[in-house]
Amino acid sequence: MKVIAVFGSPRSGGNSDILLNTIITGIEANGIQVEKIVLRNLRFNPCISCEKCMQTGNCAVNDDMQKIYPIFIEATGILVASPIYFMGVSAQLKAFIDRFQVFWSRKYILHLPVRKDGNISKGFFVATAARKESESLFAGSIKTVKSFFHVIDTEYIGNMLCSELEEKGSVYEKQELLKQAFDTGKALFV
Ligand SMILES: Cc1cc2nc3c(=O)[nH]c(=O)nc-3n(C[C@H](O)[C@H](O)[C@H](O)COP(=O)(O)O)c2cc1C
Repeated sequence: MKVIAVFGSPRSGGNSDILLNTIITGIEANGIQVEKIVLRNLRFNPCISCEKCMQTGNCAVNDDMQKIYPIFIEATGILVASPIYFMGVSAQLKAFIDRFQVFWSRKYILHLPVRKDGNISKGFFVATAARKESESLFAGSIKTVKSFFHVIDTEYIGNMLCSELEEKGSVYEKQELLKQAFDTGKALFV
């Protein structure tokens, strides 16, 4: 099993970072290694809609995304974590997801498989927000992540959505969430 964790907050040591790390600790307790991809440390541009991928099946923009694509093809488990920004995912995560348009082209225009073996990965979403829980608080981000997972042949197996977390590290005041995160990690991918 190859598990990757995409971390989308620009804030290091923030709430989504702490929750994601705790989930990873739970996963690794089962002897499964997790590779963390920290988006703020990557140098990549947004999709420019050049449509070259529709002909070639490859992204023409030469930046750090070129080393990310092969990692995704290998991954059988994918975690995605983001704070809620203006009712959606962070700009870093949205720009990252948009660069997977190359997989959309491969799948729907060129009719190529996402993975050579045609396998479906398992995907899990983690989000944190400052506001009180409401029907709409996480709805936009869930739609975006579901659409991303769909394009990369990944089943959306669940999420951990945590509201009323504002200041950096405020999740430490909610130990029950950290326990839930660890238990979630232990139960994922087994
Ligand atoms: C640019 C920006 C936009 C935000 N927009 C929202 C929002 O729409 N709804 C919300 O509940 N919280 C919003 N927040 C608060 C963050 O989602 C919240 O503090 C979250 O816990 C941050 O996670 P992090 O510590 O992992 O970065 C926003 C914060 C920033 C910096």
